[in-house]
Amino acid sequence: MTGMYSEKVMEHFRKPKNMGKIEDADAVGTVGNPVCGDLMTIYIKIKDNKIHDIKFQTFGCAAAIATSSMITELAKGKTLDEALKITRDDVANELNGLPSIKMHCSNLAADALHKAIKNYLQKKEREK
Ligand code: FES
Repeated sequence: MTGMYSEKVMEHFRKPKNMGKIEDADAVGTVGNPVCGDLMTIYIKIKDNKIHDIKFQTFGCAAAIATSSMITELAKGKTLDEALKITRDDVANELNGLPSIKMHCSNLAADALHKAIKNYLQKKEREK
């Protein structure tokens, strides 16, 4: 199976960054992958409108774990607007590509991140 993935994917799969849970997260986003049934949750901490801390929990394949790890790296330190602009393709590109049958796995990471941010914005809106 290694041959299918870029070195970068394998690196993130073997040593995922920011894996785990943020107990006092400001917002959480969970999405399920309709293609395979895998599940991903992203936790975010916001400070000064920026993603101060981010962690993920993924119950999924190697590509799902690698993309989760990658997206937490991409999103950390970004403003909410910038983080919302991170696309599924950005994640795959940063990993030097994913096998086409695995592209759906990268959707999970971007969707979970966007969902967490939207949940945060909605929460803010309600607090007003
Ligand atoms: Fe389910 Fe990759 S096979 S996320």
